Amino acid sequence: MSAASMPAPASGWEAAADVVVVGSGVTGLTAALDAAEAGLRVVVVTKDVADAGCTRWAQGGVAVVVGDVPGDSLEAHVADTLAAGGGLNDAAAVATIIAEGPSAVRRLQARGAIFDPDPDSGRLARTREGGHSAFRVVHAGGDATGAEVERTLVATAAGQGLPLLTGHVAVDALRDDHGRVTGLAVLDDLGRSGVLHASAVVLASGGYGQLFASTTNPQTATGDGIALALRAGATAADLEFVQFHPTVLHTPGASGRRPLVTEAVRGEGALLLDRAGRRFMLGVHPQAELAPRDVVAAAITRRLAETGAECVWLDATGLDGFAARFPTVYAACRAAGVDPTREPIPVTPAAHYSCGGVVADVDGRTAVPGLYAAGEVARSGLHGANRLASNSLLEGLVVGARAARAVAADLAGPRPMGGPGRVLPAVAGIADRWTVQRAMTTGAGIGRDGAGLAAASDAVEAATLLGAPIDRAGVEDAALTLLAQAVLVAAGTRTESRGCHVRTDFPERDDRWQRASLVVGLDSSGAPAVRSELAAAGAA
Ligand code: SIN
Repeated sequence: MSAASMPAPASGWEAAADVVVVGSGVTGLTAALDAAEAGLRVVVVTKDVADAGCTRWAQGGVAVVVGDVPGDSLEAHVADTLAAGGGLNDAAAVATIIAEGPSAVRRLQARGAIFDPDPDSGRLARTREGGHSAFRVVHAGGDATGAEVERTLVATAAGQGLPLLTGHVAVDALRDDHGRVTGLAVLDDLGRSGVLHASAVVLASGGYGQLFASTTNPQTATGDGIALALRAGATAADLEFVQFHPTVLHTPGASGRRPLVTEAVRGEGALLLDRAGRRFMLGVHPQAELAPRDVVAAAITRRLAETGAECVWLDATGLDGFAARFPTVYAACRAAGVDPTREPIPVTPAAHYSCGGVVADVDGRTAVPGLYAAGEVARSGLHGANRLASNSLLEGLVVGARAARAVAADLAGPRPMGGPGRVLPAVAGIADRWTVQRAMTTGAGIGRDGAGLAAASDAVEAATLLGAPIDRAGVEDAALTLLAQAVLVAAGTRTESRGCHVRTDFPERDDRWQRASLVVGLDSSGAPAVRSELAAAGAA
């Protein structure tokens, strides 16, 4: 097997590895490369081409403190992360992940990543984004950081001959009689099935931005990994905290993946204006345009409702060298007929990041033996109720590496003898994707209420039919249907506003929820239900 796509034989094929990694973004490839370097036989499974996931679309950068910015510190980065997270972070997880950021970035540089240098000092250039108290975000290609991260890891994987099974969607985990994961069932684009036997499965398959009609996420972000983990007996938490990026390029009537206008544009001085040309973030938050992302997205949403406008405007005309500093944003604006050097950019919020996910520790271990989850698919405790900008590539690099070490350690001892494992019959509730997206966009966006959440739930339920997914689209639709139900049940239960979860019928924070993450599992009928509240260990 080589880094070139493995051949897809006829239906019913079987193969074996030590560890199967699902996903080929920053987290998955970091985990896979490190596991292979630890001597494990690794196969990476990805449902599209290798770089089709969210990583390559990340613009802003990697938030990291390497010690060369006067006045900045790991402690300040931790404090900013906790402040953004609204009391639901796991403080120990935050400290661990942030402390390991510098070595993770150095490791990526050693693998060939080139970050932008500061032309004066020669050190890494830094930018600033919402919620950060310092210029600490390193970037590449101006605003093409994710593309550089993905390029580096894909090239390294190719150079090392890492087996990559493209065009295969993960359907379900195999489990033995003790519930331990023993492999993965997959389907290719033609619906042909295969089984990968493995002692460990690492989910690094990203989030569920495609639950919403307008998102920064590509088509791949359908929550498959979370759905798979729930069906395998794991739990998920913080699912109600869907982060909306405040600024995507607005073009009337457009939906689907929308071009991001990186927060770094505001970090370097751009201002948000309403239709009357007023700076409405003044007075909303002391950091104004650079308030944490949830605050800015909610303020824009309120302003749109107050003014009846379809968008607000980001005025970057005062920035020098815009086209060179933000080439991706510049190209997207020009393609839409906007010249950001001469006129304000029309922007709206769009679904961007899943702060919650499969409950896992900072080593990726879930409650199901043999099943690991890392990166956006997981709830590690780093983000709480609202992720701090550019902490996601950081988490992928750090926890991807930690998960590889955890797998290697767990497989070093005697491997459990639990039989070959089997997949349970894969009948699932499947609703039409557009119906789900419409229901979620109408009822579960920024500014939810109980009635809207219930109506969305009814709409999804009315559209849901039982069936066995026979191809990638079916697996994705089943995952989106399950995730919609899970997000709605969590959002309906949390009767307060906190972080990205903004309820118009409960507009204030409620201290009773201060340290309570909602944990969702499947009930005996396979429906998502809130199981318990997980105290956010040591949250600020
Ligand atoms: C951005 O560049 O604004 C997005 C970065 C992130 O989501 O962390």
